[in-house]
Amino acid sequence: MNTTSQFTSSFWHFYIIAIVVVSFIGLAWLLLSQNVVKPPKKGEEVKTMGHSWDGIEEYNNPLPRWWFWLYVLTWFFGIGYLAMYPGLGDYKGRFGWSSTGQYQEEVKAANQEYGSLYAKFAKMPIEQVAKDPEAKAIGQNMFNTYCIQCHGSDAKGSKGFPNLTDHDWLWGGDPAKIQETIKSGRKATMAAWGPALGEEGVKDVAHYVMSLSKKEGQYDPDRAVRGKALFHGGPANCYTCHGDKGQGVQGVGPNLTDDVWLWGGTQKNIIETITNGRNSTMPAWDNFLDKDKLHIMTAYVWGLSNKDGKAPAPKAVATPVQSVASAPAAASAAQASAAPAPASAVSAPTVPAADKAGVSYDAGKGIFYFATGKSDVAAEADKVVADLVKAGKEGKKLVVSGYTDSTGNAAANAALSKKRAEAVQAFLTKQGVDTKNIELRKPENTTAAQGNDAAGRRVEVKVEG
Ligand code: HEC
Ligand code: HEC
Repeated sequence: MNTTSQFTSSFWHFYIIAIVVVSFIGLAWLLLSQNVVKPPKKGEEVKTMGHSWDGIEEYNNPLPRWWFWLYVLTWFFGIGYLAMYPGLGDYKGRFGWSSTGQYQEEVKAANQEYGSLYAKFAKMPIEQVAKDPEAKAIGQNMFNTYCIQCHGSDAKGSKGFPNLTDHDWLWGGDPAKIQETIKSGRKATMAAWGPALGEEGVKDVAHYVMSLSKKEGQYDPDRAVRGKALFHGGPANCYTCHGDKGQGVQGVGPNLTDDVWLWGGTQKNIIETITNGRNSTMPAWDNFLDKDKLHIMTAYVWGLSNKDGKAPAPKAVATPVQSVASAPAAASAAQASAAPAPASAVSAPTVPAADKAGVSYDAGKGIFYFATGKSDVAAEADKVVADLVKAGKEGKKLVVSGYTDSTGNAAANAALSKKRAEAVQAFLTKQGVDTKNIELRKPENTTAAQGNDAAGRRVEVKVEG
């Protein structure tokens, strides 16, 4: 038997052939056995079957001719079909057709048609693919084919299946992490702690978990205190996976402080999670999505939470603002100095991935965002604020003002905002704007945001005159 056989033993090959052949013989016999009644001769009475119910009799008519011939035709069609197409055991038929073969042909044709399109997107960065309408449509199609059964048609997920449209990521939300998730799949296991902690212990720790994200009154504070000890100690040591404040450890245990729940956030859900444990598997898709398709799929998923291809406001990384406290703490210096900062001020130390510099431009105003404690201008700034640079080169005045967030000490922040303003000034000079057209101006209130907020760490450049 050949290697592409569909059967595990040649017995089934002959078994199927036997059934088919016997069926054909049986069908022929049935027809002929029913065709014994001859049509009545001219003038002869049609015979009846010889029985009668309440005077109703049954004629013994022969098979209608059209029906007879249709039957014969069908029979021969069946023979012809089995000669051309598979059906007789492993016999492939004269045409050698197979459903897999046809599928592969179609895939080949589709790849030829779309391959160049995929290749085009493969060369584009994720951010750009994410906002391309054509790529979006392809991504949506793939999502509908492979992903909606678990993540839902709106990608918002459901119990046990994460929402892909928010910024809450179990495994990381930058393109590389998303791609890794889709390509290789993920497995998450939360063990059952019921047996180790007992019913009361589970309740206590559940109330502590609830206290991390819920308002007072929604949990039992006494239990929460006892639960906190359990969270941070044996036998469970919850903190090893969920972080010492329950803030989560990416790829190890989810954040428990954000009131976003994969398994439900009611007391009952949480107790159930801790008692019985949870298990999740995100399948790997590298068998279905080749490199180019994976790129589009990744961009699509990334774009679900990063609308219009814009990355989220960078999250804070623990780079303390105080690290620049050695810089001169002269709060008014930002006004005084109009000299370009030395080029070294913009030479880039590596910026942590989750905490990036950024830049935006709208209606005569450019905004430069910075990583915590850093003063590096975003790499793409030259393109984003091209109009601003143009205005400066044409002799318009560019007013540069620095702001910081509210973390860290005030003097250090003022120094930092000055350093950032100078970095932006250096950047503008480097782009060809004459220094006399650039004015550093200290804003009324340099603290533009509460807490460690990326929007606060910014330098604004406005066109004046
Ligand atoms: C059989 C169900 C299933 C299918 C189908 C599925 N996923 Fe998932 N996916 C999951 C589960 C479950 C998780 C969460 C794993 C965990 O708890 O860590 C997940 C997690 C993810 C994550 C990580 C989310 C995070 O917060 O880090 C991404 C991204 C993702 N899926 C994308 C996709 C894409 C794209 C597809 C289609 C190509 C897909 N999934 C198809 C079940 C599925
Ligand atoms: C070995 C690592 C590990 C330890 C230890 C651990 N967890 Fe988890 N926990 C996880 C993982 C992984 C998940 C996510 C499971 C999933 O994605 O399905 C999880 C999920 C949860 C959830 C559900 C979160 C949600 O979004 O629905 C809760 C609540 C929770 N853990 C509480 C605890 C508590 C309380 C303890 C200590 C008694 C604990 N965990 C100990 C790894 C751990």
